[in-house]
Amino acid sequence: MKLHNTKQMLLDAQAGHYAVPAFNIHNLETLQVVVSTAAEMRSPVIIAATPSTVEYADKDYLVALVGAAMEKYDIPMSFHLDHHEDVQQIEETIAAGCRSVMIDASRLPYEENVAKVQKVVEFAHTCGATVEAELGKLVGREDNVEVSDAESAYTDPDDAVRYVAETGIDSLAVAIGTAHGLYKGRPHLDFDRLEKIRSKVEIPLVLHGASDVPDELVSKAITLGICKVNIATDLKIPFANAVKAFFKEHPEANDPRKYMTPGKEAMKKVVQHKIEVCLSKNRY
Ligand code: CO
Ligand code: CO
Repeated sequence: MKLHNTKQMLLDAQAGHYAVPAFNIHNLETLQVVVSTAAEMRSPVIIAATPSTVEYADKDYLVALVGAAMEKYDIPMSFHLDHHEDVQQIEETIAAGCRSVMIDASRLPYEENVAKVQKVVEFAHTCGATVEAELGKLVGREDNVEVSDAESAYTDPDDAVRYVAETGIDSLAVAIGTAHGLYKGRPHLDFDRLEKIRSKVEIPLVLHGASDVPDELVSKAITLGICKVNIATDLKIPFANAVKAFFKEHPEANDPRKYMTPGKEAMKKVVQHKIEVCLSKNRY
């Protein structure tokens, strides 16, 4: 099964001044909610999986599930590896059919970051896969990686130009003040920095850590040139809360077809809302 890369869908978003939502899924149920909702709303969609999701759900199952969804719905859809750091794991997943990957070498010093990303780009492009990479560091938690506030560094616009040229990546994840997970206070996004990066870099720009960021800030980031918005935490919480509420009301429940359903319904509302915020509705 060969899936689609994210090249054209992100270029379309860049030209159309909207963003493609990238939703982190974990299993069949979460995938079903994301793809059926995106199809209802005629929105392009990226199905994202972190290394721990690939470990949990298995790359072959994930590729096959997204392949089945692609045949079922006629919207632009891609399976994307989110925050992968292991080059071998990336290559194996591309070999299994995945065509869109993020190599996250952002914790390495600049030269080592470039060298690692170059290696992935060379392999991925030979296979027709697209590559996202990150320059700068996000605060917060992504999978099992902790980046403390002190270590955080925003993306420098001039370094970004050099980084894109040296690595040959297809899209760039920028650090402009967002964090993974939930925020302590209202997040502060450095929009001047984003504008500078957008004016100097030609490829699509990606916003990580967009969960728990007020809609108007995400909208502004999209107006200023963000073409892909990643959403993970904002889906997990309502799903879990709805399942918890169901069990509270039905402590005797044991049928996953029953207790998963309220979780899916709660998640669907968030997917709908995020598609609205991304302005990706009715694009195809
Ligand atoms: Co991220
Ligand atoms: Co909202």
